[in-house]
Amino acid sequence: MKAADCTPCNLAEAAEALESGLLVAFPTETVYGLGADAENPEAVARIYEAKGRPSDHPVIVHLAPGADLSYWAKDIPDAALQLSEAFWPGPLTLILKRADHIPDAVSGGQDTVGLRCPSHPVAQELLKSFKAGRGGIAAPSANKFGRVSPTKAEHVIEEFEQELGPGGLIASVLDGGQSDVGIESTIIDLSRLSTHGPVLLRPGHISVDQLSAVLGVVPAMPDAAAPRASGTLESHYAPRTPVILVSPDELDQVVSVLESKGKTIALMSCQSHPELNAKAWTQLPTDPAGYAFGLYAGLRELDQASADLILVEQLPSDAAWQGVNDRLRRAAFDSRHVLGEWLS
Ligand code: TXA
Ligand code: MG
Repeated sequence: MKAADCTPCNLAEAAEALESGLLVAFPTETVYGLGADAENPEAVARIYEAKGRPSDHPVIVHLAPGADLSYWAKDIPDAALQLSEAFWPGPLTLILKRADHIPDAVSGGQDTVGLRCPSHPVAQELLKSFKAGRGGIAAPSANKFGRVSPTKAEHVIEEFEQELGPGGLIASVLDGGQSDVGIESTIIDLSRLSTHGPVLLRPGHISVDQLSAVLGVVPAMPDAAAPRASGTLESHYAPRTPVILVSPDELDQVVSVLESKGKTIALMSCQSHPELNAKAWTQLPTDPAGYAFGLYAGLRELDQASADLILVEQLPSDAAWQGVNDRLRRAAFDSRHVLGEWLS
């Protein structure tokens, strides 16, 4: 199956498919989403089936610009209005108390709901056509559970070949070009404001500094009782090839030891390393936004090189890199012991 161009006709068809309970993959400014009618529990169940994701994991509900928050959430604090005013449409998800009539399928049985208004024009057009702009599209990232999020329509097609087309779970994949931001939305929990204050569940393009400036307080890091978020599992966003983070000072040495053991590498770095013998190499920009834009496409490309390892040159640890460092740390989590074993 091919991705669909975003003509008005294809968008109207996609909105109809959603209304009839099917899934549609669509671009957002962060990553591609796999969408279903948020108010149709059977449709939401199809997302879990297609992704192979446990059904107690909540999904984000995407809303059209100007949507009525009070239809979806209750006990809405002023902070939610201030943040949505400041950052919507855009890459910020608010966790609020779920309104009683919203099915708990979207929140994996928790009493909250994640809401976000995306800024990508195709996502907005789709949301405006779907239920005449009054619906919500439940959409996690359009990848199999635990794998790298898609930033291009072709990534979605690669990932879901079996589920596409007539008789499949996914009616269409809308092609809106490469997602600008490249990593998933920042998630802030406002559902326990009176007891815990605002809590940052997932860092992203909207930074802690930007959130603090609007909220007047710095959001806290998640505690044990914070609402569960699958993007916050230790191991997530991982390619099939083990990913290892290596500090720039150690890179040459690590590569030569690996070489002496007959191991092949693929490399992701900002600096150029002509001296290193890599099977594949992705060079990314030295600014956090540029790096985030290319990160997932780069990991997918390096994964295809069939090297023994993907080495990623470590980045600065300052706040501007928080979102990117969070994704890299999780991509590398399962392979954190591999290097030690090979180098010993
Ligand atoms: O940028 C994004 O957020 C993308 C695009 C498609 O919008 N979506 C995305 O969805 O990353 P997903 O499912 O891959 O990650 C959504 C995160 C998960 O970690 C999920 O657990 C969390 O949001 N989430 C959604 N609703 C929640 C809720 N009610 N309480 C706590 N976490 C929630
Ligand atoms: Mg995801």
